Amino acid sequence: MQKKVKFIACTALLITALTAVNASDLTQTYEMPDATKILEKDLLKPPATYTLPKSCNLNDTASIARGKYIFHNLNGDQAKETPPEGIVKSIEKDGKKEPKQYGNCVACHNIEGAVGGGNIGPDLSNYKTYFIDTKIRDAQFVYQKIADPRIDNPATHMTVNLTTGLFNEQEICDLTAYVMSKK
Ligand code: HEC
Repeated sequence: MQKKVKFIACTALLITALTAVNASDLTQTYEMPDATKILEKDLLKPPATYTLPKSCNLNDTASIARGKYIFHNLNGDQAKETPPEGIVKSIEKDGKKEPKQYGNCVACHNIEGAVGGGNIGPDLSNYKTYFIDTKIRDAQFVYQKIADPRIDNPATHMTVNLTTGLFNEQEICDLTAYVMSKK
């Protein structure tokens, strides 16, 4: 009998306690890190328009070679060929050496010489013949597309390369020169 009373008392206490917690602000009961700080890092900056820089020499063979290397490789650790002049294999970040990221554009695009080129993006083989010589596309379009593809297609699945700081202007020039070149 006494046990039963105890049980009822306990249950009543528990219910009262739970109701009290429930009524109070639950955010007080556990630690809440400020997620906006974490999210800020992942959020993309808004789409930006860019003009093909005057310094961009699309016929420069050294630039085309760099563009080719950036296009076909993922990063400095995994790249098999010797990088052309002007390409670094690693960078210093927060005092630590880490492999330099390249474009890995072949993950989504097929192009001349691509090994297992992806098909999420259009096939960029014969780009000069089909798109440049026919004036369907020009250097400004290609530069903008690689720099920030969202201007052409707000719902794009392509990586944003200049606005994100993944690459600098010269590297976007190199990629543009390579895509547009006769291969
Ligand atoms: C995650 C997939 C993905 C990656 C990685 C990617 N692209 Fe794309 N790319 C696309 C898609 C999808 C399109 C089609 C247009 C769109 O949706 O923006 C496209 C379109 C393009 C076009 C325009 C073709 C045309 O004339 O219509 C060019 C040029 C291009 N990409 C170059 C590159 C380069 C250079 C890289 C590497 C720095 C790259 N892409 C990486 C998905 C990708």
